[in-house]
Amino acid sequence: MCGIIGYTGSLKAKNILLEGLTALEYRGYDSAGISMFEKDGIRTIKAAGKVADLAKKTEEYQDLNGTSGIGHTRWATHGGVTECNSHPHTYGKVTLIHNGIIENYHELELELAATGRYPVSQTDTEIVAMLLDSLYTGNAIAAIKAAAAQLDGAYAFCIMFADEPEVIYCLRNASPLLACKSKEGTFVASDVVALIGYSKDYFALPEQQIARLTKDSITVTNDMDEVVIPKMLHVSWDITAAQKKGYPHFMLKEIHEQPDTILSTILPRITKEGIVDFTVEQIPDTIFKDVNRIIITACGTAMHAGLIGRVMLEKLLRIPVEVEIASEFRYMDPIMDHYTLVITISQSGETADTLAALRLAKSEGATTLSIVNVKGSTIDRESDYVLYTQAGPEIAVASTKAYTAQLSCLYLLTYRFALVRGTITTQQCKEYVTELRNVIPAVKEALTLNKHIDDICSNLADKEDLFFIGRGIDYPLCWEGSIKLKEISYIHSEAYAAGELKHGTLSLITDGVPVVAIATQSKVLTKMISNIREVRARGAFVILITNGEIELEASAYDYPIVLPKTPDYLTPFTAAVALQLLAYYSCVHRGYDVDQPRNLAKAVTVE
Ligand code: G6P
Repeated sequence: MCGIIGYTGSLKAKNILLEGLTALEYRGYDSAGISMFEKDGIRTIKAAGKVADLAKKTEEYQDLNGTSGIGHTRWATHGGVTECNSHPHTYGKVTLIHNGIIENYHELELELAATGRYPVSQTDTEIVAMLLDSLYTGNAIAAIKAAAAQLDGAYAFCIMFADEPEVIYCLRNASPLLACKSKEGTFVASDVVALIGYSKDYFALPEQQIARLTKDSITVTNDMDEVVIPKMLHVSWDITAAQKKGYPHFMLKEIHEQPDTILSTILPRITKEGIVDFTVEQIPDTIFKDVNRIIITACGTAMHAGLIGRVMLEKLLRIPVEVEIASEFRYMDPIMDHYTLVITISQSGETADTLAALRLAKSEGATTLSIVNVKGSTIDRESDYVLYTQAGPEIAVASTKAYTAQLSCLYLLTYRFALVRGTITTQQCKEYVTELRNVIPAVKEALTLNKHIDDICSNLADKEDLFFIGRGIDYPLCWEGSIKLKEISYIHSEAYAAGELKHGTLSLITDGVPVVAIATQSKVLTKMISNIREVRARGAFVILITNGEIELEASAYDYPIVLPKTPDYLTPFTAAVALQLLAYYSCVHRGYDVDQPRNLAKAVTVE
């Protein structure tokens, strides 16, 4: 959630920290702060608000020349959004930043009060600074190890000790922390986007190991104080991939990248014979053979991709597939065994609930396969098998290109699975693959609806409630359309199975209430048309989404969105584009922050 950056080297730390925080702001953005080793000791500057507010504040200080420091952009968990609650927090000789939640902070606070230590903020983080200070007697690593032994929860810390100028210590448990070295010094960050300007080679700090960063070296030690050499990772994209490239918002850029990201995700998994193959990923066919049950678990948009995946997997495999919200799944005592395949889906690879669900599945003996965008993320490293979405960095909080890349992986997985189990022939697999590839020009064409959807959205600017209705595979799409709209335009919306409307929700459909009717499935089209007439008869403002032209009297709707024609089972790709644009332009017309919606964060690393 929160963004973390640390640097020690030869350059001015203030600039590096502020640049890093700007790159990381999408992870959390309600307040920010930096601390640097200066000539007169550690100096801290904090501001409630955006990183730009912090940058402005630092302009008041002309004497910040330090070349080592730590920076943080916050997404509040404990304590309101105030300057005092912003990180870094200092207690005694300790200054630190934190991403995560310390679950036993209150007990620790009581114990520390007995030693005469009291916090000034309302955060769990300051308690850790107090704890470290109470344990520190000149040996930083010993103090960090002793503190870690008392902490429950998820955390990533960067810590400075006043006694040890220009050295940064790092520790993590569950929350991510990456580090790299360049000729300018050493760096640590919660996300590779903040490192990529300095090095494409980095490592993920292993859990419960301590990294010590000096100007020219990073030393990692384990709990026995032995030096550990972490596995280096390489990022394949460059800094421009994480820039707006002339688009007004990251979200719009990312929506428009989808033809490329779908292609990059599909292509490397297709053999020259035209079938799906996961040899490169080292996913053995044996994992598909003995499975009698599949569970897909994820959060948010990734979970919505899973709902589409279920339809495809069940259709071609005839194996029961359940889709579970990760935060519920883990506490439901789920039934799993060696014949269960658990598929977790995560763009960031760091979502705390998805990670916990993965760990639970492993502990129950299930085979785990994850669909992940960020290489080297915790879910990537802990899964038995991984299929990467090649979406590149996704910066906007509202997920778009990651969703269609996740769909691409799920369709590929379905085809390989079905081929291995013999529920489709090689010839059928080739045909499915061809149709999947043909979705790319269709997505390109769907993007040309841009202006039309912008016009439609001018009618939604003053609406407060909206309904998405659909049947079959369009119903899980409604969920994605609804979350996208809610996230950024703040219009309340509900996703409804069209046939279920009359069992309650129809009472909310009155004059002018907008209804987005997704009607792309020919199998249920006549039923869907009846549902559209039902809402229309009650005065709904109907936006109709169809797969190519359909026959329906113009009086049954207000605006059509006619998607380029694809086979019905592939409309999630094209319809997703329309729904993303609908959310995007609704947000723009209402004048809200597209890329950083209120209260949300890109990677939810706390439960
Ligand atoms: C957050 C983001 C969503 C995302 C969800 C799951 O809520 O705002 O856009 O879908 O987390 O994230 P993941 O990284 O696991 O896909």
